[in-house]
Amino acid sequence: MASTRILKVKTYEEMSVLAASMIGAQVLLKPDCVLGLATGSSPIGTYQTLVENYRKGILDFSRVRTVNLDEYCGLTGDNPNSYRYFMNDNLFDHVNIDKANTHVPNGAAEDLEAEAVRYEQFIESIGGADLQLLGIGHNGHIGFNEPDDCFPPKVHTVALTESTINANARLFERREDVPTQAITMGIGTIMKANKILLIAGADKKDIVEKALFGPVTPQVPASVLQLHRDVTVILCEN
Ligand code: F6R
Repeated sequence: MASTRILKVKTYEEMSVLAASMIGAQVLLKPDCVLGLATGSSPIGTYQTLVENYRKGILDFSRVRTVNLDEYCGLTGDNPNSYRYFMNDNLFDHVNIDKANTHVPNGAAEDLEAEAVRYEQFIESIGGADLQLLGIGHNGHIGFNEPDDCFPPKVHTVALTESTINANARLFERREDVPTQAITMGIGTIMKANKILLIAGADKKDIVEKALFGPVTPQVPASVLQLHRDVTVILCEN
């Protein structure tokens, strides 16, 4: 049966601490778990808290495996705007995770179609994510699944919408440097995770409401989460 818990918190810090607690609990429960991870502004505080908890000796990542949602096409992992770089910089370089156990789709692959097939099969081969962390776009995207006529089932490449390119431009020196394509888990890939944890700042209040209480439609990709059996949403009110 579908079940969604909505936890409302007052600050970004509270959101981050709660999200890190849930991820920490997952690692305690299953030390060799598969964590599905996201990039962007929303999870930075969560990753900081995980790093702090690791430094306090509360968390051990030595057997944890990770699969990231997405990556920009055309950027290699040493590009500071790539999601691989983001993950190393915000989490992996600061905890005792084995980098060989961390996985981000290869956006610089020569054959992106083949890379999409490989990444989907890889996720399946390790049993999918025990816990998938998600942010949400202002248009309801999760991963880089933009509003569309259908829910994409598998890892695939996408053309980013103007609104997503504009939102991401803040992180690039020049707007023309923002990649226009990405490779992302599909909605089907995301929905196969055992548990989903969605974190959203106050600016996402309206879209979270629409996604959780509006019709289930690929025009609001996150609305599909209404059908998942185990979703926790942490929504920051300020
Ligand atoms: C990132 C991702 C995106 C972001 C979303 C929200 O890996 O898949 O769906 O989660 O765009 O981004 P922020 O948190 O920057 O508002």
